[in-house]
Amino acid sequence: MNNRVKPIYGQITGWGAYVPEKVLTNHDLPAALETSDEWIVQRTGIRERRIAAPDETTCTLSLHASRAALAKAGIGPTELDLIIVATSTPDHHTPPVSSQLQHALGATDVPAFVVVTGCTGFVYALSTAYQFIHSGAYRNILVVGVELLSRFVDWTDRSMCVLFGDAAGAVVIQATEHSCGLRSFVLGSDGSQSEQIIMHGGGSARPFSQEVLDNRQQYVQMNGREVFKFATRVVGPTCEQAAAKAGLTLADIDWIIPHQANLRIIQTAAKLMDFPMERFVVNIDRYANTSAASIPLALTENLESGRILPTDRLMLVAFGAGLTWGAAVLELSPR
Ligand code: UT7
Repeated sequence: MNNRVKPIYGQITGWGAYVPEKVLTNHDLPAALETSDEWIVQRTGIRERRIAAPDETTCTLSLHASRAALAKAGIGPTELDLIIVATSTPDHHTPPVSSQLQHALGATDVPAFVVVTGCTGFVYALSTAYQFIHSGAYRNILVVGVELLSRFVDWTDRSMCVLFGDAAGAVVIQATEHSCGLRSFVLGSDGSQSEQIIMHGGGSARPFSQEVLDNRQQYVQMNGREVFKFATRVVGPTCEQAAAKAGLTLADIDWIIPHQANLRIIQTAAKLMDFPMERFVVNIDRYANTSAASIPLALTENLESGRILPTDRLMLVAFGAGLTWGAAVLELSPR
């Protein structure tokens, strides 16, 4: 008798994304910001971003992406065993937006929670989801990366508001006996740099008050230069560590899907890693930085266009508030 337990893998059977209809190009930005298309394109690669309509929220953005991912997977919301939402811009501090999404989907009684690790959120959430799959605890998991940053940036601060956009992306992971899924992951955080990206107001340290509002501390603030340096330093080594943990080298990776924060960060990382730029997935020009949504949005777009195949081997890599970072080697389907 063979007593060996068969490993449990997780196939990505569904994917979906949603971006709001409203396109805000660099040319549409208010003149009072004293910025220019030239500055934004040269420094960031961003040409336009999507802005949520007044009646849209983080929950409704997630709902569109989740429904698309479930439809693609061919399963209904009640078949889910778990929902994980990565976001730093929920509808409310409390309740968790994951429960709001669970209800809106009609996923009755399905457990749901939020992962808050800034722009690295999707890599953390995906790695977490796979632990439930690999342990055999759950068979069908929805992982969402969503952000509605246009409501959390100061629209009078040109150094911040031009950088971000709103979006949601989602994947469905289903347990399978066939070898595929998350091959490795690397996660990290360095709280000594927590002030580099911070929303000072509205938490226990500085509850909302007139003073918070007067100092515009209800908005996210970022030390762009420091975060830029950190990002270019961390992307290459993190990808190399994730590849090594999977028993691979970067030469075995078909596509790198990086968090879309700045085209220059991606170009610098490509050079440092000696990995061809045309094998990096880039869509920052059209959506700007959508934080935890950027990777599942880029993944969905490129799977839908046929540029990325489900049998390709992917490296996901992200960095953000915390500061946090993470990378994962992912094979959506058996190769
Ligand atoms: O997703 C989370 C992680 N976030 C990131 O990875 C972002 C990382 N950082 C960056 O992408 C870049 O640092 C930025 C795009 C945010 C800024 O680019 P930079 O080349 O580092 O510019 P800077 O902050 O050093 O500013 C240079 C100049 C300043 O003027 P002075 O002081 O040199 O006169 C800024 O006031 O550019 C000015 N500036 C702008 N000018 C026109 C800043 N923002 C703008 C703007 N339009 N929108």
